[in-house]
Amino acid sequence: MSLSNAMLAMEISSHGGPDVLYPCSVPVPVPGHGQIVIRLAYAGVNRPDVLQRQGLYAPPPTASRLPGLEGSGTVVETGPGVTRWKIGDQVCALLPGGGYAEYAACHESHALRVPRGLSLREAAALPEAAFTVWSNVVMRGGLRAGEKFLVHGGSSGIGTMAIQVAAALGARVFTTVGAPEKQAVVRGLGAEQAWNYRADPWGSDAKKLGMDLILCMVGGPYIQPNLAALADDGRLVQIAFTLGAKAEVNFSELMMRRLTFTGSTLRPQSDLAKGRIAAELETHLWPLIEAGKVRVLIDSEFPLTQAPAAHWRIEAPGHIGKIVMKVEE
Ligand SMILES: NC(=O)c1ccc[n+]([C@@H]2O[C@H](COP(=O)([O-])OP(=O)(O)OC[C@H]3O[C@@H](n4cnc5c(N)ncnc54)[C@H](OP(=O)(O)O)[C@@H]3O)[C@@H](O)[C@H]2O)c1
Repeated sequence: MSLSNAMLAMEISSHGGPDVLYPCSVPVPVPGHGQIVIRLAYAGVNRPDVLQRQGLYAPPPTASRLPGLEGSGTVVETGPGVTRWKIGDQVCALLPGGGYAEYAACHESHALRVPRGLSLREAAALPEAAFTVWSNVVMRGGLRAGEKFLVHGGSSGIGTMAIQVAAALGARVFTTVGAPEKQAVVRGLGAEQAWNYRADPWGSDAKKLGMDLILCMVGGPYIQPNLAALADDGRLVQIAFTLGAKAEVNFSELMMRRLTFTGSTLRPQSDLAKGRIAAELETHLWPLIEAGKVRVLIDSEFPLTQAPAAHWRIEAPGHIGKIVMKVEE
């Protein structure tokens, strides 16, 4: 298929607030070995896009400079060596960058079929949360049925996915949120308890219960209470340090109570590692989605050219779940 050479994209014109996201015309990506090009219908908006816009999260050297880590649409070109997809297939994909555009390229193994029953709009909001949650909660954190699981930021894109996945796996789920109206929503997703972190003593309550696994995106002042809230042999998995990566911590508990403190970030991982996560998602998570046990919660939708408004929305405390942008008019 021959594509036109130029496409509309939203670029980070300089580091700063949402209004630095600016429309531009850039070349359509050319697929490398093992890559596909997708004509995007929708693109997902994620907190790491905000950090990239602010100059706090540089893309890996080989990735597109454009923001955008996920999307859904139709395969329009396949590079040499591609066997998994053909032109015309509908997919959702984890992107190394470049999702705020009409076309995006990714490794073929990072694209997944759209789960049955999901629209392209919902599917666009799935990959970043699905890859992050499955790899950190299940593959790294080793969550098992019957265990107690605490996820901070329960109303975030990541949090709403983590609550549902953990509940579907048979764990008891606990979470923190920043506003009373979010408590009912996260309980509806499967959380047994939702502490308002601005008002409730989540640290002492969680310590009494003894968590087997904690997924934390806050860091800083949460590191010590997280470790204290773990049951013996508990695991703490860090996926962001929103309130800082430095803290004074008493690590003796790590040794005395056999705790594990680990973490990961998705974007710099190898194609092979991301492909392994994708294979797990297809085998284990897609059936849960198709059975209606895990849903994609969409907070709001914006046209691609209103990416600044989408960023204002994700930075506002009120959003619940995912924000998507419609690419195809
Ligand atoms: N490691 C990785 O591979 C990876 C991948 C994707 C995302 N992430 C990280 O995961 C987090 C969620 O991403 P997202 O795209 O889903 O963003 P998001 O929807 O904007 O979520 C951010 C969340 O952080 C919560 N939060 C902020 N301060 C908090 C505090 N003191 N205590 C508890 N919760 C607090 C917010 O809660 P309220 O709004 O209720 O205040 C909100 O739910 C981000 O930090 C992001 O950087 C990591």
